[in-house]
Amino acid sequence: MISRRSMLAGAAAMTGASLAPRVTLSSGAPAEVLEAALSEMQIAPEGYPKTGIWCYGGSVPGAEIRARQGDRLQRRLINALDEPTSLHWHGIRIDNAMDGVPGVTQDAVPPGGEFLYEFDLPDAGTYWYHSHNKSYEQVARGLQGALIVEEPEGPDVDREEVLVLDDFRLDPETGQIADFGNMHDFSHGGRLGNIAVTNGIFNASFSTQQHERLRLRLLNTANARVFELQLQGLDGWIVALDGMPLEVPRPVPDTLRLAPAQRADIIVDVTAEDGGEAHLVRLDRGDAFSHVLFTVEGKASENRRPTPAPLPPNPDMAVTGLDDALRSTLQMEGGAMRGFGSARMDGREVGFREAAQSMKFWAMNGNVGMPEDPLLIADRGQTVRVMLQNDTMFPHAMHLHGHHFREVHADGTLGPMRDTLLMFGDEKREIAFMAHNPGDWVFHCHMLTHAYAGMMTRIKVRS
Ligand code: C2O
Ligand code: CU
Repeated sequence: MISRRSMLAGAAAMTGASLAPRVTLSSGAPAEVLEAALSEMQIAPEGYPKTGIWCYGGSVPGAEIRARQGDRLQRRLINALDEPTSLHWHGIRIDNAMDGVPGVTQDAVPPGGEFLYEFDLPDAGTYWYHSHNKSYEQVARGLQGALIVEEPEGPDVDREEVLVLDDFRLDPETGQIADFGNMHDFSHGGRLGNIAVTNGIFNASFSTQQHERLRLRLLNTANARVFELQLQGLDGWIVALDGMPLEVPRPVPDTLRLAPAQRADIIVDVTAEDGGEAHLVRLDRGDAFSHVLFTVEGKASENRRPTPAPLPPNPDMAVTGLDDALRSTLQMEGGAMRGFGSARMDGREVGFREAAQSMKFWAMNGNVGMPEDPLLIADRGQTVRVMLQNDTMFPHAMHLHGHHFREVHADGTLGPMRDTLLMFGDEKREIAFMAHNPGDWVFHCHMLTHAYAGMMTRIKVRS
């Protein structure tokens, strides 16, 4: 039931002829300089022109950055683009001044300018870096890459692969990344691509052996696509979400859902027979696609291995003191179909239609875009609970900078540590976190056209 085809709309030329999988993975030694620059790359199938990209280190995803837990990371961003940019280190519990948010933690780096990012890496895990200026366009054009922080002692696996899942909207004629002013993308579910890729190509594949044990680091760097994934010929456990280890590995569910910006580390065994195939399957509107192909040749061992041990925990992950927490509510409104009555935008009250004329369609707590005052001000070390209420018809992937949080379930139990929470229309869900990291931290939807179109606020943690 699995077809292995790309989804390039109007792509009659997709004959399947000689689509030799090209796989680009872990680059060598990381450079001290990260240059944001133009390049081009073969993203569409053979026969299409190369696609112009904006990227770090010549490709999308950009040069993989790999460090060890406890390291201090240093990168000089050089802006060789024609517009300002910045670098955000997604999921890192970082020093606020290095968080890379223009207008909040730094000025955007102008064309020809540079900025030195230097910070500690307190946590091991799967993270990423991306532009935080006009992200809905800059990230979609390719300004993103994986940031892998290794545990002092890694898990017992045969190998590891980083799988950056993304999609591009390519013009079917020219193969170029297209269509940035589309009002629909700002007012509905966000900008979806017409070709879904792994590590920048649509037909990633790996050769494996039966019973080989793989650690797959899955990252969703797409603007708005929620990846719905299944395993076929692979079987295993989730060991970390959004970088943070689970206390107990859990079997990969039937469908693993990865919202924009979310990550999942899974440890899987190849269960497909020698000579067969395994797949990371992507579900898409009722169809199933082989998103990543694993060919199976030979046997790594006669039998499967026992359940893996949990990854070592990162420091200070406890969320305690929930009863005395500082409480706050974040109500999301807007978007197509419902809109909002009125909201504050640029210092005055506007109606939905007026906001729409500036491509703004969403409000949070009655503010379109960054409010004058933070959502909340916490003291360092204080426990915070935020009730998130999605009064729109669309899913949103809410991301908090500088902290990880846990969901507070209705029965009072706490979910896993995450930095991005996927919420569906009309859902109401609560998160809790320790405000351990001083500074101004943005809190926004990671469907990047939504972030641009109003879904952006911030919290403040006093030092
Ligand atoms: Cu991944 Cu505010 O960002
Ligand atoms: Cu959203």
